[in-house]
Amino acid sequence: MIIYAVKDYEEMSRKAAAVMAALVVSKPNAVLGLATGSTPVGMYGKLVEWYKNGDLDFSQVSSVNLDEYKGLSGDNDQSYRYFMNTNLFDHINIDKARTNVPNGLAEDAAQACEEYNEIIRSMGGVDMQLLGIGGNGHIGFNEPSDVFEKETHVVDLTESTILANARFFESMDQVPKQAITMGIKNIMDARKILLVATGEGKADALYKSLFGPITPKVPASILQLHSDVVVVADEAALSLIKEKGLL
Ligand code: PGA
Repeated sequence: MIIYAVKDYEEMSRKAAAVMAALVVSKPNAVLGLATGSTPVGMYGKLVEWYKNGDLDFSQVSSVNLDEYKGLSGDNDQSYRYFMNTNLFDHINIDKARTNVPNGLAEDAAQACEEYNEIIRSMGGVDMQLLGIGGNGHIGFNEPSDVFEKETHVVDLTESTILANARFFESMDQVPKQAITMGIKNIMDARKILLVATGEGKADALYKSLFGPITPKVPASILQLHSDVVVVADEAALSLIKEKGLL
């Protein structure tokens, strides 16, 4: 595991973008596993900037995203498809037909999950999977649990997530109660993992994930078993690891 300790969010964004850009340059038809959330927004901004400068070409790149809310269409501004379009895809020359996000509107969600696994397999697997990390150690929507869920599956959102999301919707009925997420095996099958973390709120999760026992109670701890992990984290996110003299 390589840990890049950087100063702040801006440096994290630049470094993480550089790691992904290096792959896109060396493998123009790379399969990128992408993530949503506030952490990668700055990184996506850098990739857009470098594309606009003529330094990156995404025309042959394909992508698969980690997760999507169940019940939201891609034009809903709270959906992860919308997030990806507005933060990245609309600003680069990626072929949208080659970008994949789980279908939140599928009538048969179990079948949609199977199809998503099949999409990942048919692309030949993921070259680099980008991950944010939850304050509780979650990756994608794989929340702390008694078991590691293997492949793409439907998850019930926790009450606190539903309440936290409520502010973005007009009424409680519109707030998604479930999501579709890649499972731990899908994530671990990626040839390389790029984990990004920023801020004090991630310090405990990062310490437990990188140095604690490997347990589904801290889903990201499974990454200790992956042979090619790059972590890009800022001082605040690494504060507990540094305090314990592990870095
Ligand atoms: P965040 O989310 O980037 O918005 O902190 C990360 C995550 O929960 O995976």
